[in-house]
Amino acid sequence: MIEWFAVDLIKQAGELIRREIDQSYEVERKTGKGDLVTEIDRAVEQLIVHRIQEAFPHHQIMGEEGTTDSPDTLTGTVWFVDPIDGTLNFIHQKRMFAISVAIMIDGAVEYGFVYDVMADEMFMARKGFGATLNGRMLTTLHEHQVRDAFLSMNATWVTPNHQIAPEILAPIVRDSIGTRAHGAASLELAWLAAGRVDGYITMRNMPWDYAAGKLLVEEVGGRVVSVYGEPIQYDSKTSVLAGSESFVNDVIKHYVIAKGVTAEAKPDLHIVEQES
Ligand code: IPD
Ligand code: CA
Ligand code: CA
Ligand code: CA
Repeated sequence: MIEWFAVDLIKQAGELIRREIDQSYEVERKTGKGDLVTEIDRAVEQLIVHRIQEAFPHHQIMGEEGTTDSPDTLTGTVWFVDPIDGTLNFIHQKRMFAISVAIMIDGAVEYGFVYDVMADEMFMARKGFGATLNGRMLTTLHEHQVRDAFLSMNATWVTPNHQIAPEILAPIVRDSIGTRAHGAASLELAWLAAGRVDGYITMRNMPWDYAAGKLLVEEVGGRVVSVYGEPIQYDSKTSVLAGSESFVNDVIKHYVIAKGVTAEAKPDLHIVEQES
């Protein structure tokens, strides 16, 4: 079965990372000082891509580190692969990063896997069948409002940035019971599914960051949309707002729309110009 193939593959990739993490490896800068890729990211993606291509030559693969072409259309079976989600954590903290893999079949994500390599925690979801953590079923999310939510959000989004005016998200930070910046989108969504945080907000994620985690959250009754409340697509970068139904509604209604910001008005938010 495809899910056990995926689990075996991800665990093998995890062993590779644990073996290499204390060795010296090359680090390259991609677009900016915080956007790095290591030799290990590339090696893990190659391992995963090679095994998928060997077993399923007709499947398409969308991997972060560019060893595959982006599929032209999201038809047939498409694998979304982030070999190390949280590369900065991998380099600096040697923990709190994940391998994120999702399998989309005919336009719908059917399987999602987020593997916390150093904690040896495998989060898995199958569409319509729920989500598990190391084989144990995860339970339905508790409903939260912003005022009683423990949040995961990068501090970048309350500083001047290209994506959103800081005053839109700062009140959410102020009103919540606490905010943490964990630095690995897939893991933050997996922790949300496991009830370890109550909300996750980011203004910039790619499909390989959220495809698996989104299914995990949805399989425990949560909702994942853009911060403007739009459905999330899998073909480009997007903002991500995730949490229980009431948390997501609270954010959109009382913090985003209340400031006069809607999906249609969002281009007006590109008001701050700075190098990232
Ligand atoms: C990044 C992490 C980070 C998120 C970025 C991602 P990477 O992934 O998930 O938490 O804020 O948007 O690009 O580059 O470490 O795989
Ligand atoms: Ca990256
Ligand atoms: Ca990532
Ligand atoms: Ca990555």
